[in-house]
Amino acid sequence: MDKIRVVGGKALTGSIPISGAKNAALPLMIASLLTDETLTLENLPRLRDVQLLFQILSNHGVDHSIQGKRNGQDEMSGQTVDLSARAIVDTTAPYELVSRMRASFWVIGPLLARMGEARVSLPGGCAIGTRPVDFFIQGLKALGAEIDIERGYAVARAPAGGLIGNRVVFPKVSVGATHTIMMAAALARGETVIENAAREPEVADVARCLVAMGARIEGAGTSTIHIEGVPRLGGARHRVLPDRIETGTYAMAVAMAGGDVVLEGASADLLEAPLETLRQAGAEIDVLNHGIRVRRNGHGIHAVSITTEPYPGFPTDLQAQLMALMTRAKGTSTITETIFENRFMHVQELARLGADIHLDGQTATINGVSTLKGAPVMATDLRASVSLVIAGLAAEGETEVHRVYHLDRGFERLEDKLTRCGAEIERISA
Ligand code: UD1
Repeated sequence: MDKIRVVGGKALTGSIPISGAKNAALPLMIASLLTDETLTLENLPRLRDVQLLFQILSNHGVDHSIQGKRNGQDEMSGQTVDLSARAIVDTTAPYELVSRMRASFWVIGPLLARMGEARVSLPGGCAIGTRPVDFFIQGLKALGAEIDIERGYAVARAPAGGLIGNRVVFPKVSVGATHTIMMAAALARGETVIENAAREPEVADVARCLVAMGARIEGAGTSTIHIEGVPRLGGARHRVLPDRIETGTYAMAVAMAGGDVVLEGASADLLEAPLETLRQAGAEIDVLNHGIRVRRNGHGIHAVSITTEPYPGFPTDLQAQLMALMTRAKGTSTITETIFENRFMHVQELARLGADIHLDGQTATINGVSTLKGAPVMATDLRASVSLVIAGLAAEGETEVHRVYHLDRGFERLEDKLTRCGAEIERISA
């Protein structure tokens, strides 16, 4: 298995291109199931989760072709991909595929809306918590579906004339359930209103794509979404928005290592809360026309405390990275995780580097230390693994991050992007 070796102590200078957002790319690819015409997605990141979803979608009958590079594009540019689901050949999403990526459960919405049936494996447990699917099931039932759980599969059937619009009120904000019900409702008869919808920018991005495909959706990006169902959707061309989690991750890496880096193509509007947190932590942040400039020169890191919240609050997907940064802060900070119940696996690994962190339920108290010391550490999930790389950038000596396949799920060419800015980091293939 590949590992990543980081030698700490180098400041970062230069520029890092920000890729298309993984969390928009996945539901956008799933939206291709809603039409027999071609959906062209630009700026799709090259990630293991994207590859895996191609495989899952092709099992349902979606053909994809990756367009060649155009003039001016380099190896860091996102890819343009045509997705065509002319005929759905299979409405079953098997356990072997769904268990490898939770978001693949979301195909249940489009399959049910277009084909009137879907048999999708329940995703099962996951390192960061139980992550149930009850909101998906309640929401689809509200649209008239009958759903039974049979041998680990959600077996769903739409009424004879198709799904019927309704009011769907989520008990708690869920990104995946919002995407799924929005897609299903786009082809339902009549109006659907989703209340307590996720406000994440990726939901708004998917809605923009669905509208370009002919859907009638208003309010995406707010907590109430109105969808007037249409009988069919057509093809469209859509550019995936920049990845705010990748942006925030590199911003924290610069705050940790020190230096001066432009995050090319990043959009500051997508991550106001994390940028404000970084400013309080002592980073200088300038919003440019074409990206965000992040600097930390000479000053120490200040302790800041946060609680993770649904958008526009501080994202859970940046919690581990901020914790890595806080291990070197002057003073004590607290980080409270409210979205996932078990998202602190990085604490033990950061401790191996010399961090001083105490866990009490959902709150971590971090007493900043003046030095971290490199050590072998283990990646446990996607965001936790990158927090170990960030810590390694500031640790004395060598840090080896094992099980980096977690990183490849969500970070495109991480070691290349950091090397371009002067970090001493390399991938060692087993
Ligand atoms: C998405 C993101 C993930 C991010 C998370 C929270 C993608 C591909 N993934 O995941 O990176 O960390 O949002 O911002 O976009 N819940 C239930 N029942 C359900 C559904 C969810 O109880 O039916 C709970 C979950 O256990 C969790 C909370 O709701 O506690 C939020 O989860 P959700 O927003 O659904 O996360 P994902 O969509 O899986």
